Amino acid sequence: MTRELPTRVSAASALPPSGAAGIGFENVSVAYGSQLVLDSLTLTVKPGEIVALIGPSGSGKTTALRAVAGFVKPTAGRIIIGDRDVTHVAPCDRNIGMVVQNYALFPHMRVEDNVAFGLRARGVTAELISQRIPECLRLVGMEAYTKRYPRELSGGQQQRVAIARALAIRPQVLLLDEPLSALDAQIRRSMLDELAKLHRDLPSLTVLYVTHDQAEALTLANHIGIMRDSKLVAFGSAQALYRNPPNRFAAEFLGRANILAAKSLATIDAGLASVQFGQTLLRGRNHHALPEGSDCLVCVRPHDLRLHPGEACGNTLTGVVRGVQWQGDLHSITLDVQGQTLRLSSTPLAEPPALGASLAVHFDPADVTLVPESDTNG
Ligand SMILES: Nc1ncnc2c1ncn2[C@@H]1O[C@H](COP(=O)(O)OP(=O)(O)OP(=O)(O)O)[C@@H](O)[C@H]1O
Ligand SMILES: [Mg+2]
Repeated sequence: MTRELPTRVSAASALPPSGAAGIGFENVSVAYGSQLVLDSLTLTVKPGEIVALIGPSGSGKTTALRAVAGFVKPTAGRIIIGDRDVTHVAPCDRNIGMVVQNYALFPHMRVEDNVAFGLRARGVTAELISQRIPECLRLVGMEAYTKRYPRELSGGQQQRVAIARALAIRPQVLLLDEPLSALDAQIRRSMLDELAKLHRDLPSLTVLYVTHDQAEALTLANHIGIMRDSKLVAFGSAQALYRNPPNRFAAEFLGRANILAAKSLATIDAGLASVQFGQTLLRGRNHHALPEGSDCLVCVRPHDLRLHPGEACGNTLTGVVRGVQWQGDLHSITLDVQGQTLRLSSTPLAEPPALGASLAVHFDPADVTLVPESDTNG
């Protein structure tokens, strides 16, 4: 469980530098003993942008965030905030706010004192503090709760206060480490909306957001980085990564794509190519300009597969139904197609197919991306 308490800060940094500041990782590596847990991370978060880092447990996301905060020292590389190299700057002088998943409010302090903590540590005047507390609590809709103790608040409310506390020093950079993961699904959704609104209210705030949850990343982030085994294996705009994942890992992790191994790519025209999947010819977008004759992966999202109307047409596959799940607003169907698994999600079906039945599915070439077969970059 991650737990950071706000660090006592120097009075010299009481007034943050003005203007938006981006974050730069330049070949940053971090090791614990002999274990390399962040491997040459190079990544830029532009000023005022939200970048989400996603990836499986243990892939190095929190370590990357802690390197920006200054809680871990890189073994190599540089961390830049704005135009400052902060690699060797103390955490308290980096002008960052940080929120972690388990609230980490001071239990013995009222909401107002929690929010004021960082300001008092900086020797800010009582007058400024009394302005700043309601201002920050208003940003997160908690201005009516100044006198409460953390134990008198729900989890979502505590996390709002934690965000207000992080914002009180007017940081240029806000680091969020799974801030919503301890909350239940419904609160998470409303907090996501509030975080989006917060960023509209504070457009110059640069945010690095670590999450397991791809939906959070897609909803909030301008750009998404995908981590795996200490490395960044994909980076791009949320839309581009989703639509044209650069490798199998990115395709499966962000949006849980179906992946089919195919052979012998042949160009049809500038954007489209055909590939051989078993006995079937499939067409898709050759966005990555894969060379003719190469093997590749066919990537298609579950909601882009349609139940075939009957007559033969392009991009049709027939499989055996292995699973049918009704999930309220959709039916999720698993098919075995030539020994590979294909998942389809459809609007609820009046007559779902029976297990073991043969089922044909169709997909539009425009909804298919061909992805490099080699997984060396992911
Ligand atoms: N203080 C530490 N000492 C030793 N190893 C550590 C320490 N903190 C993290 N690690 C190791 O570093 C690796 C990356 O951890 P990190 O916390 O960055 O992962 P993460 O991607 O944030 O995972 P999660 O999604 O579970 O939070 C893991 O193998 C972890 O065991
Ligand atoms: Mg983590």
